[in-house]
Amino acid sequence: MKTVDVCLSPDLIHLYDVTDKVVVVVDILRATSCMTTGLANGVKSITPFENLERCEQMKSRGYLIAGERNGQKVDGFDLGNSPFDYMKDHVKGERVAVTTTNGTVAIEKSRKAIEVVIGSFLNISTVANHLKNQQQSVLILCAGWKGKVNLEDSLFAGALVDLILGDFDYETDAPLLARASYLNMKDDLLRQIQQSSHARRLNKLDIVMDIAFCLKRDEYDILPRLVEGELTI
Ligand code: MLT
Repeated sequence: MKTVDVCLSPDLIHLYDVTDKVVVVVDILRATSCMTTGLANGVKSITPFENLERCEQMKSRGYLIAGERNGQKVDGFDLGNSPFDYMKDHVKGERVAVTTTNGTVAIEKSRKAIEVVIGSFLNISTVANHLKNQQQSVLILCAGWKGKVNLEDSLFAGALVDLILGDFDYETDAPLLARASYLNMKDDLLRQIQQSSHARRLNKLDIVMDIAFCLKRDEYDILPRLVEGELTI
């Protein structure tokens, strides 16, 4: 039977063999929420870069460049890392190169997977249906914060495990832990996640509206996939 597992931090990815798995990368606040929003709003492709300088060089190739470090927009970049940046008319039809603190790092570490898909609450049912309709085992990779576990990505992992339960067997205890946490918090998710370290970090930067938006369920019915280094739908 195909299995589902949860890797709570990219720093633990060396413990997993991704070569025979579909990896769902999640960074709820805010990288994968932004990627899902951008592709749903007409962005042609999103190319993730772990390295800021390599991302910046894409400007000369006609890409819009999106950059975030420690939750703040990188000076001189076209976009920051707010989903509302990706809804603007000027990004429609454009190719975007993006680098973020954790989300693009997690994608980079997933590249040897059979398939890399982008998960967020914004497209969670589309991701779940895709996973149920294919035969490979799945690893949900939480972007976390600089190698540390975070609440919002772990709760997303639990929500996704809860949706695909029955079609998958558990590989380790992480899916059990994530699902139990989600079931315990799901009825008060916004308030719970507003207490998270990253929500508090964003609030200190006067970034408030993003958090509620990133928790909206099934706002979009798209499945961003990494194809030849680019995220497309
Ligand atoms: C990340 O990559 O960890 C996040 O996207 C940071 C942010 O909130 O922009």
